[in-house]
Amino acid sequence: MNLADLNKVALAMVAPGKGLLAADESSGTIKKRFDAINVVSTEESRRDYREMLFRSDEAMKQCISGVILYDETIWQNAADGTPLIKLIEQSGAIPGIKVDEGTQALANSPGELVTTGLDKLAGRLEKYYAQGARFAKWRAVIDISGADIPSRTAIHVNAHALARYAALCQAAQIVPIVEPEVLMDGDHDIDRCYAVTQRVLNKTFHELRIQRVALEGMILKPNMVIAGKKSPKQASIGEVAEKTIRLLKTCVPAVVPGIAFLSGGQSDEDATAHLDAMNKIGGLPWPLTFSYGRALQAAPQKAWSGKVENVAASQRAFTHRARMNSLASKGEWKADLETRKAS
Ligand code: 13P
Repeated sequence: MNLADLNKVALAMVAPGKGLLAADESSGTIKKRFDAINVVSTEESRRDYREMLFRSDEAMKQCISGVILYDETIWQNAADGTPLIKLIEQSGAIPGIKVDEGTQALANSPGELVTTGLDKLAGRLEKYYAQGARFAKWRAVIDISGADIPSRTAIHVNAHALARYAALCQAAQIVPIVEPEVLMDGDHDIDRCYAVTQRVLNKTFHELRIQRVALEGMILKPNMVIAGKKSPKQASIGEVAEKTIRLLKTCVPAVVPGIAFLSGGQSDEDATAHLDAMNKIGGLPWPLTFSYGRALQAAPQKAWSGKVENVAASQRAFTHRARMNSLASKGEWKADLETRKAS
């Protein structure tokens, strides 16, 4: 492992004013997104859609440091035969790859999940590196439900798997994005999210240390500390920002090169406003940026709706969200910029 090079890539992933585009939806997930805009999900439509994003020049060059790809996409060519991965590289962004293989039921822990994909991961990483991937992603999913979920077991096995993945990535000279996502699906309040996320992050860093993962060569992708979507007690933008920062300061060592949040089902504007509010507080040991899927893609998907004549409008929508989040990553976003859509 060359730690200096891993650190260089990790720092480039969180370069000032830039963040990650999570375009790594599995075939099942992208089908759901396409169903919502009445587009049939085929290899070609998925390619066309993602090619359109990667050819959004302004967004890609100015706001996007890296793109997380799904296995299908990393091997695909654009309509003119250019490998999609080349389009990403030509825009100055770094290609990355989702390497987990989704979740399955966790035995003996009803209602809880464990992320799979460790078997044969070393060999897959070698192939992805040869294809140009310089970072990877593994998402652990932690649900909050009632008093007993998440269980200690679910937190433990998921943290253990994250650390095993991270160690394998670094051995393959690939920067691991470590993503322990505490879901915002329930009716819990923000303080319950705080307490659970604290347990999850502490356990994750404990496992990373035990497995000798070099913290200088990774990126953390956490959820924000936020009330569940069904909670009657929604927190303000300021409270989310303040509690998220307070928690991260207690759990995340300063040597970690950067933190790139997931959007997790927040509205586009909330995801931007929260990131902005945290960066406005400032005084943090790590850059805080975005690694958004839905909060970057919902608007362009809607604008596109699978029609060639909508490509320019869709790229404008994507560029607008990328710009807003780029500003938020510097604490320079203002709500009234949202009404002045990209020209
Ligand atoms: P969302 O921003 O839609 O949560 O997706 C980010 C991601 O990569 C989840 O693994």
